[in-house]
Amino acid sequence: MTPLADPITSPGAYTGPATLAGIETPAPVVDLGRLAANLDRTAAYAASHGIALRPHVKTHKSPLIAREQLRRGAAGLTCATVREVEVMSAVTDDVLFAYPPIGGPRLHRLLSAPPPVRLTVSLDSEAAIDALADAAAAAGRSVRVYVEADVGMHRVGVTSAEHAVSLARRVAGRRELEYAGLAFYAGHIRVPPAKQDERLAQLNQALGTIVDALTAAGLKPPAVSGGSTPTLWRTHELPAVTEIRPGTYVYNDRMTADLGACTLDQCALTVLATVVSTSVPDQAVVDAGTKALGRDPLDDASHAGFGAVADHPDVVVSRMSEEHGILDLRGTSWRPETGDLVRIIPNHVCVVVHLNDVVYGVRGERVEMSWPVAARGRV
Ligand SMILES: Cc1ncc(COP(=O)(O)O)c(C=O)c1O
Repeated sequence: MTPLADPITSPGAYTGPATLAGIETPAPVVDLGRLAANLDRTAAYAASHGIALRPHVKTHKSPLIAREQLRRGAAGLTCATVREVEVMSAVTDDVLFAYPPIGGPRLHRLLSAPPPVRLTVSLDSEAAIDALADAAAAAGRSVRVYVEADVGMHRVGVTSAEHAVSLARRVAGRRELEYAGLAFYAGHIRVPPAKQDERLAQLNQALGTIVDALTAAGLKPPAVSGGSTPTLWRTHELPAVTEIRPGTYVYNDRMTADLGACTLDQCALTVLATVVSTSVPDQAVVDAGTKALGRDPLDDASHAGFGAVADHPDVVVSRMSEEHGILDLRGTSWRPETGDLVRIIPNHVCVVVHLNDVVYGVRGERVEMSWPVAARGRV
C-alpha cells in the first residue's frame, strides 16, 4: 500500500464565501474528505497491484486535482481534448491523448504541447498514423503511439488482431513515432463489479488474442492501457493490463453508484441548489435544471430521475427545464421550504463539471477553497 497523501488544502488564500449559505446557486460543491478518500483508495489499489495509474482528467478538468493525483503516485495523465492537454502540460510531463488524432487543427494544437511533455496518442487507423507522423515530423518531435483495440464497446478501436498488428507495424516503421503499446476502453461493462465475471473473462480472451498476435509479430506491447471506473477494482484480474485510466472515480456520481462501483456516500461532488418554489403540491422546484445537472438518464431506466437529493436519496429530480429542476416529493414526508439549500447528486458528474467555471471545496457547511475548471471548453 502507498502511504496516503495529506488532506487536500487550498494552495492560496481563499477569499470566497465561508459557508454554503454564501454560495450563489446552482454551484458544484465537493466534499474534500470524500475527494481525498477517493483519490487515496484508487492510488493505493493501483500501487498494491503494481498497475500504473494514468487518471483521465475529463472528469475534473482541473490542474489542482491533477496535482493531487500525481502527488499520490499517478504515472501521468490522460486527456481527451487538446484543451485538456494544454492545461495539464503545466502539471505533468507525461500525457496520453486518448482520442483519435484526426483533423489538422487538432493535430497542430496537440503537437504544440510544450516539448518536455512526453506525448502518447491512441489511434486506430492508417490515416491517423500517417497524419500524426507527418505532424510530428513538422513539429520536430517524437510521439509515442498506443494502437487502440475495440474490445466490445464498438466505439473506436480496431476489430481484429490482424489489424492491430498491421497498425503496430506501420507505427514502428515511422521514424517520428514510437510504438508504445495497446489501448482499450471497456466502457461497455456496466454491471456491478460482483457481476462482471463473464464480461471480464471475455475481455481477458480478447486482450489475450491481440497481445499474442502482436507478440508473435515481434511487437509485444510495452504497455497495455485500459480501465474505466466501473471495472477499476477488478483490473488485477486482467493480467495483460499494465496501466489504468479511470476518470469518474475522483468524484463518482449517481450512475456509478447505481452500477455498484461506489456508494452514494463516496459521491464527492453535489450540485448545491436553492428551493425556489413549492407552490405545486407534492413537488419542490430547485434552481438546478439541465444547465446545472446535465440530462443523462441512468442506465437502469427503472431508477428514474436526473439526480437525487444527497440527504434524501429517494427524492429525485424527476423533470427539468433549463433552469428548473422538479423534485418529486410524492414518496416522502420531507417538505423543503422556499429558500432551503439542497445538495443534489448528479447522474453524470463529468458533464456537470464541464458546465461550470468554478468548483467549491467544502467540509460540512464550511467552504474552504474553490478552483477553476481550467480545462473546460475548447478555447
Ligand atoms: C478512452 C477513455 N479512457 C478512460 C475513461 C475513463 O472512464 P471512467 O469515466 O469510467 O472512469 C474514458 C471515459 O469516457 C474514456 O473514454
